[in-house]
Amino acid sequence: MSTPPRHEQPQDAPRRPVTLTKLAEMRALGEPIVMVTAYDHPSAKAVEAAGVDIVLVGDSAANNVLGYTDTVPVTVDELLMLTAAVRRGLRTPLLVGDLPFGSYEASDEQAIQTAHRFVKEAGCDAVKLEGSPERARAIVRAGVPVMGHVGLTPQTATALGGYRAQGRTAQRALDVTRDALDLQDAGCFSIVFEAIPAAVADAIMERMEVPVIGIGAGASTDGQVLVFHDLLGIYDGHSPRFAKRFASVKEEMVAGVRAYAEEVRAGTFPAAEHTYSIDPDELERYRATLVPPAGIAWGPGEEM
Ligand code: KIV
Repeated sequence: MSTPPRHEQPQDAPRRPVTLTKLAEMRALGEPIVMVTAYDHPSAKAVEAAGVDIVLVGDSAANNVLGYTDTVPVTVDELLMLTAAVRRGLRTPLLVGDLPFGSYEASDEQAIQTAHRFVKEAGCDAVKLEGSPERARAIVRAGVPVMGHVGLTPQTATALGGYRAQGRTAQRALDVTRDALDLQDAGCFSIVFEAIPAAVADAIMERMEVPVIGIGAGASTDGQVLVFHDLLGIYDGHSPRFAKRFASVKEEMVAGVRAYAEEVRAGTFPAAEHTYSIDPDELERYRATLVPPAGIAWGPGEEM
């Protein structure tokens, strides 16, 4: 029988909480960083069990769980409630809360106040915002780590010409590069690149010193992020090309509920094993106390 080397960690050693330092080390070592969104307690428990590094309670909760058509209407209070539920389901990954549209752009004071709510009320380790290097700088100075977001920024998609890839001309690629460098200079600990050509991401990566998480930005970023409902196929409508589906959970959900409905309608559910019993003497005593329906006289052992 072989003896394992003494420095090896046991397979079931608990994972340590992911810190900003750990993320920087992963980048330095070339270890891919895995980030995913979650919006409630069960999804938090699932991504915790799957061993991801960063969990984002994205403002994409707007479309994925709240039924809005885009991310613009979702409020701070709506996201705080979802984020607090995710916090209660997580032990290990870094938890990032997404500042919704209209909650940080007006002033540094507004940005700091909103960021502090995500930390104090929902237990976030960090917050994310789209663009806005000045606000990012103010929040970092107020003691909250900030993740930036460049490229396709859905909160301002209308101004960007819709939900489409960004940085596809030399000028627009330069704009995205500048946005990323400005957020890095502002002190962001990490930046999301969304929907930009892989070649543009490659060029920006040469200038980045913080972990970059890509979504539709090719393979050269330090990590990847996908939306929970996209990757699991809970959302099964039209998705952007980068939203690879790794499971078909919606189909499973519909099949499960349909099977339940069929059994209820066929009278095969609930069966005896889903039903509670009562001691026959107790049942007898109980029935003796009941006034029988008009015209019916109950005797021992009779059906009610
Ligand atoms: O809200 C969100 O889900 C996001 C990710 C796509 C990065 O911002």
